[in-house]
This record gives sequence, structure tokens and C-alpha cells, in this order.
Amino acid sequence: MDSLINKIIALEKISQELEPSLEKRNSLNEQLQQYTNHFIENTEYNPSYYGGNPDSEKLRIKPSKKDLKELLSIYTSEVVQKGINPAGGGHLGYIPGGGIYASALGDMLASVTNEYAGMYFGSPGAVTMENELIDWMKNVFNFPKEAIGNLTSGGSIANLIALTAARDQHQIKNEKISQSVIYLSPQVHHCIHKALRIIGLEDVQVRLLALDELSRIDIIKLNESIQDDIENGLNPFLVISSAGTTDTGAVDPLEQIGKVAQTNKMWYHIDAAYGGFFILSETKKYLFKGIELADSLVIDPHKGLFLPYGLGAVLIKNKEAVFHSHHYTANYMQDAITNTQINPADVSPELTKHFRGVRLWLPLSLYGIEPFTACLDEKLLLTTYFRNRLKEIGFELGPEPDLTVSYFWYPSKDVAENKYNEKLMEIIHSDGSVFLSSTKIDGKFVIRMAILAFRTKKITIDKAMKMIKKCIGKTNEYFNK
Ligand SMILES: Cc1ncc(COP(=O)(O)O)c(C=O)c1O
Repeated sequence: MDSLINKIIALEKISQELEPSLEKRNSLNEQLQQYTNHFIENTEYNPSYYGGNPDSEKLRIKPSKKDLKELLSIYTSEVVQKGINPAGGGHLGYIPGGGIYASALGDMLASVTNEYAGMYFGSPGAVTMENELIDWMKNVFNFPKEAIGNLTSGGSIANLIALTAARDQHQIKNEKISQSVIYLSPQVHHCIHKALRIIGLEDVQVRLLALDELSRIDIIKLNESIQDDIENGLNPFLVISSAGTTDTGAVDPLEQIGKVAQTNKMWYHIDAAYGGFFILSETKKYLFKGIELADSLVIDPHKGLFLPYGLGAVLIKNKEAVFHSHHYTANYMQDAITNTQINPADVSPELTKHFRGVRLWLPLSLYGIEPFTACLDEKLLLTTYFRNRLKEIGFELGPEPDLTVSYFWYPSKDVAENKYNEKLMEIIHSDGSVFLSSTKIDGKFVIRMAILAFRTKKITIDKAMKMIKKCIGKTNEYFNK
């Protein structure tokens, strides 16, 4: 017995390191706070893109210990100073994320208290908070009270949950798979295709719809395509539209597509991961008319509400369709079964999960919605400002964007346009003061702007213009113009 107790005491001493004293915690907190304050204060002056690869040796887990000071220095050189700086305002590529500070505090709270947000029984408060946030979103998007939802890690998982529900509602399985048809835009985010494979729908028929000149789904072609398929004995069951495509930011005609889906008794899914929260802008509300017709809707607070990466959301009207694949019980869960509220675990592949609700609840409760709406409106105006300035120096622009994603290219005369703009993009990336990305529109290489980072300000666009002018000079030099 004595030896057992002695062993326990010995191990207790060693494992005690996992519970630092108040004094040690204060010291760690102070170092980290200094670090994050320095990061935030200097973010405007730091590059938006760093080339090079991290030294994996420095990141390797080794038996020897390091102190926080050394670790923060490694974090800076091998993580922060590599690749894109997504917390900075100069991230104007892909779909920028955010990183508002109050969310980081929310994450800290969630991690320290480690509330169990998977089941109501474990943490009624955490689950109620997450369900309140879902109710808030239902309200924003005019979804009915009975709809259910989930706070996911991001848009991909949110789309996966929604498409699983569509599959189950329409019982697309076995021989029905190859006879069933899904209608979507060629500009739909690739996570939709990925999700279809994951949920066993690789062999469904996918109709990539024709788009109008503003890259929106052409409603006449959609109707024709559905009628053709019905006449050919197929089973049209799902139509997907985007409220803000990743490529061009286009918002499909949501209401018209919704009506087509209703008429044909199809599931209507809207991916509004990028654009959804622009519904809060009075100037853009009209674009979202009909969003409430969706059977399922994806929105991403880690895009449109400027949160740090790690928060998407899905809203779904038909609870049974979701529960078919996601609601399970087990003997060891018997104490946790309550009928009080929807459990996040019943609406998601996850059981245990990060209590991600706090990272949204805290900023929304601290600030209200007004600064978020103002920030969205600011991004819309900055998009116009950027486009105007580009035009002034001779760039050709894509069509007037619905939201804050747009594209442009330099109309080079002597060198093939694609070749010129590819080189220009490469030089912009190696400059790195502001980060832009590129895409192809009907085979044409174009440079893309996506203005959604909350730290993007007028001064950022002015900086981008300065950089672009410099890079044009270098591109011309390269081609000996
Ligand atoms: C329209 C759209 N849908 C889905 C996604 C995927 O979201 P996530 O990267 O959060 O998984 C993105 C990402 O940019 C997107 O723009």
C-alpha cells in the first residue's frame, strides 16, 4: 500500500507541471499578451505574404523542453512569417478570414472552462448559448423557428451536413444514386463536390448550369435542364445555389431558383459561406430575397463576421432529415439523453467538440451588430474604391460585383495577356506587401480581389495600388517593354 501511495505522490509531482501556479500563469499570460499586442500593433506594417518554407526541424517535438520565450520566437519565424498573413488587412486573396480580438478571448474562456458543448446534459449553458446563436441566425435569414442548426468548424463541414440531410430526405441510395440529378453552378465551391463524394453520391448526375454574363445561374437553362431530365425518367432532387461565389462573388437569383426547386419538389441548398452576412447591409439586402426558401443554408462567421478561423454554421428546416444520419444514442450515453434542447451532437458528425459558440457570442454581446454591419458596408465601398483606382491606371475590370470579390487584368498589347498577367501575379506575390490571388474566367487568367478582412482599410487599398504600380514596372522590365 505504502509503495502504491509513494508512486502516486511521485507521479503527482511530475504531472503538477500541467497545472501551473498562479504566479506562473501570470508570467505566461504576460508574455503571451505582450506577444499578441506586438503582433496586432504591427500587423499593418508587416508583409501580407511571406515566401519560403518553415524549418520543420524547429517545429519538431523533442524530448528536451523549451521556454515560452523561445517557443514564441520559433512561432514567429516558422509560422507567422511564412505564407499568407490572414490576420492582416492586406489579405485580399481567396476569401480572407478575420481574427477579431474578442473572439480570441472567447476561445480562451471556452478552453479554460472546457465546457462540454456536444450534449445539453453536459453543459446546458454552452448548448443553450450555441442554440441561441443559431436562433439569432435563423432570425437574420428569415428561417422558421422550427429549423435546426449547428455551429461547425467551417463552411466545408456545414455543407457536408446540409447535403447529407438532402440525401437522406430524398433517400438517394443504392440504384437510385445514378438516376438522381443535382443542379449547380460551375462556380460552386469545391467543398460541395468533396462532400458529395464523402456522402457516397459520387455517381449522381451533376448538371453544371449555364451562367449569365454576371456569373449567376441562368434560370431558364436551369428549368430546361430539369424538364429534360424529368422527361428522360431521371430524378432531379437537389439544386444548389451560391450567395456569393468564391470565384467572382456572384449571388445567384436565390428566389427564382427557390421557386423552381419548390415546383419540382427538390431540396434547395444555398451556400452563403462567403456572402451570407452581407444580408445585414441595407444596400445589399435585395440580393438575398428568397434566401428563406432554402431547405438548408450555410453561412460562415469566420468569413462574413470577421471571426478567426474555426466557425461556420448550417441551418436546416427539416429536423428529421438531419437526425436520420446524425442522431444516435448508445448505452454509455443513457444519462445524457434529455428532450430539453437540440444537442449539437445530433446535428453534426462531431460528438465532443470545441465550444466554439463563445467566440461569436462574446463579440456579438460586447459590441452589438452595428460595427459588424459597418465593417461589411466599408468592405463594399472599398471594393468600388479599389476598382476605380485600378481603372485609372489602365486595368480592365470584370463586371460590377454583387459583393466584394472582383477581378481585373492588365491589357498588355505586346505579350499574350494571360502570360503577362501570370507574370504580374508572380511578381505581386514576391513583393508580398499586399496579397492578391488569381483565377481563370472562361480560360482567361485574371487577378482577383476579395475584400473581407476586417483590418482592410482605405490605407490598405492605397498600399495595394502602390505595390501594383511597382509590379507593373517590374513586369514590363521582364518582358523588355
Ligand atoms: C462559397 C464558399 N463555400 C464554402 C467554403 C468552404 O469553407 P471553409 O473553408 O470554411 O471550409 C468557402 C471557402 O472559401 C466558400 O467561399
